Amino acid sequence: MKLYFLSTAVVTTTFIYQSYALPFDQAEEEFSYTRKLLSEIDVQEAVKQASPLINILSWDESYAKAKMLVDQMSLEQKVNITTGIGWQTGPCVGNNGRTTSPDFPELCLQDSPLGMRFADGVSSGVAGINAAASFDRAAIRKRGEYMGEEFRAKGAHIQLGPSMNMLRAPEAGRNWEAFGEDPFLVGVASAETITGIQSQGVMAVAKHLIGNEQETNRLVHSANIDERTIQEVYLWPFARSVEAGVASVMCAYNKINGVYACESDYAINKLLKGQLGFKGFVQSDWSATHSTVDSANNGLDMTMPGDISFYSGDSYFGKNLTDAVQAGRVQEDRVTDMVMRIVASWYKLGQDQNFPNTNFHSFRPELDKHIDVQSDHKNLIREMGAASTILLKNLENILPLRTSGIKKMAIIGSDATTNQLGLECEDHGCASGSIASGWGSGTSRYPYLVSPLDGIRARAGNIIDITEHLRDDDLPVAAELASKANIAIVCVNANSGEEYITIKAVADANENTIVVIHSVGPILMPWSNHPNIKAIVLPGLPGQESGNSLADILFGDVNPSGRLPYTIAKRKEDYPAKIDHGMSFEYSEGINIGYRWFDKNGIEPLYEFGYGLSYTSFEYRDININLNQGTANDNVDVQASVTIANTGMVDGAEVPQAYITFPEIADEPPKLLRGFEKIFLGKGSEQVVNFSFRKTELSYYSVESHQWVVPQGEFKVHIGSSSRNIRSSATFTLS
Ligand code: NOJ
Repeated sequence: MKLYFLSTAVVTTTFIYQSYALPFDQAEEEFSYTRKLLSEIDVQEAVKQASPLINILSWDESYAKAKMLVDQMSLEQKVNITTGIGWQTGPCVGNNGRTTSPDFPELCLQDSPLGMRFADGVSSGVAGINAAASFDRAAIRKRGEYMGEEFRAKGAHIQLGPSMNMLRAPEAGRNWEAFGEDPFLVGVASAETITGIQSQGVMAVAKHLIGNEQETNRLVHSANIDERTIQEVYLWPFARSVEAGVASVMCAYNKINGVYACESDYAINKLLKGQLGFKGFVQSDWSATHSTVDSANNGLDMTMPGDISFYSGDSYFGKNLTDAVQAGRVQEDRVTDMVMRIVASWYKLGQDQNFPNTNFHSFRPELDKHIDVQSDHKNLIREMGAASTILLKNLENILPLRTSGIKKMAIIGSDATTNQLGLECEDHGCASGSIASGWGSGTSRYPYLVSPLDGIRARAGNIIDITEHLRDDDLPVAAELASKANIAIVCVNANSGEEYITIKAVADANENTIVVIHSVGPILMPWSNHPNIKAIVLPGLPGQESGNSLADILFGDVNPSGRLPYTIAKRKEDYPAKIDHGMSFEYSEGINIGYRWFDKNGIEPLYEFGYGLSYTSFEYRDININLNQGTANDNVDVQASVTIANTGMVDGAEVPQAYITFPEIADEPPKLLRGFEKIFLGKGSEQVVNFSFRKTELSYYSVESHQWVVPQGEFKVHIGSSSRNIRSSATFTLS
């Protein structure tokens, strides 16, 4: 019996960053500047300023203000603002140049999508993939709000997230940073996150535009994606981000159809700024700029971290850009446009007023003010950890655990515990013990990590006698322990290759085995049907409150309501895409990503997209369709409603999902997610849930007309509790 972990994080840059020393002269100069910056700060003031009432301006208002400032700038000043000051030469992972007379500050750009990287006193919450698994718009927005609050209090102007690349190949190293395999879900999660972050006056960054769906060869490969697939899958989340008012977009490392993303006229000018009408600024991924003239003319607005390669001391922008303007190869208007976009974004987020000084230092702890900005965010993190935990299997209602019935519990596996080394290493790169986050630039430092063992112990108190074997070897010992317990809990994670042996040894010895999986993404589970494995719980990457969130679910204090944001296949070969080791690869599955592929090819998954069990049951009553405007044009407006009743014995949350089947002419996959809601229902109660389908939801991209088109003909709406558990369907026709 084998367990294959599909997801292996391959994020390498962090360690490259760490291994260089800063050139002496640059270091000294910057050191004194930074020291001055930090000594100016009144710590209390910074925290006080952290909970502002932000008045977010419209783009028109922001541009009007920006014009007055930028009009006073020389070419060199403008160029300075577009150019990062160099890797590790400021307090943040990225800082751009500032100007005086007129004054524009050095902006602080800081990772990551789940919390602040390279800082202490910050929270380390659920990963993007868990935010998506919550299927809870309000919770995702609150997550954005608390992250924005922490970034602001630390004086970071720009949070480098959310990450919104698609989970195309299950092995891809950074899938966990983003929101899964479905564009609609990724779009909603991205927009809510951005709205949340920006409500605190911090700029969000939609990343990475586009085609960064794997880490292998990411600096050089070309993602070859056809026009329709770009529009319907990969650009979709960026479209929703622009609608949400995102301030910045990060172009990717890779090439798109043969052209580097950061100098792609097609991706930046035509699609993002043209078609989507993006008014903010495009920043490069770190060292993803490859030219001066092509990048500038094709839409790049800011190069990060500024130097051509780390510590090189030169830049494709900076003097090279000034020279290119003077030589007539880049128009000064283009440089003015770059700066207008940056300065307007700063005004839009109200950063010209009371923005706290940067008070942390990513690279020099001795210059860090060590301000604790966590507030009570751990409560939301615990809630979200539980709300994003997916219950995959629950035979004989073994869960929730009833403390009175259990005398002895065995907890097995290294993932049940934590060790100091795993907690302290930078970017979680040497994580050992339980994992609650992936590793790389998408992380933030744990303030602490509640292990599964600690969480379960705290909840079980003295009532249950807990024995433990916190290793993945010595299987006879594990089996012996399991055989003497009423319940055996095996904790496994995606960073190890040995747990399948542990799972089998324990399951053979204990007929009430519960498997808990901390994983960065889909895994293969050929053991899932073992009759002694009564329950499978997938908390994914729940962040610092891991063990507490897990205990909340296991003991029924919270009724599970997480849903799979990806498909778990029976076999690796069933997935449509895998990591490509070449330099150029085709996205040959096209628009049939994720569950769409399984639907179209009649492949039975092990657990389908949108799936997750509850401790209660829900009944769906018939759909009502209301065609407010039933013509196939831009004003189309179709409403659907369904009544959902909690018919079980406990309160709980349900996630009704609306899938649409398009008329044949659209040539879409069998069904597409086009709506979801999370509703909380007390036992015995019911609620009407409404879905609204407008042009965005009811159009497909026509490669003939190069436009989004609402087709005429018969549509079907399916409302269900997963992509395969459709409870009620109805048709409507657009004429
Ligand atoms: C590279 C990563 O791809 C990007 O997501 C991150 O924001 C930058 N490095 C800065 O650390």
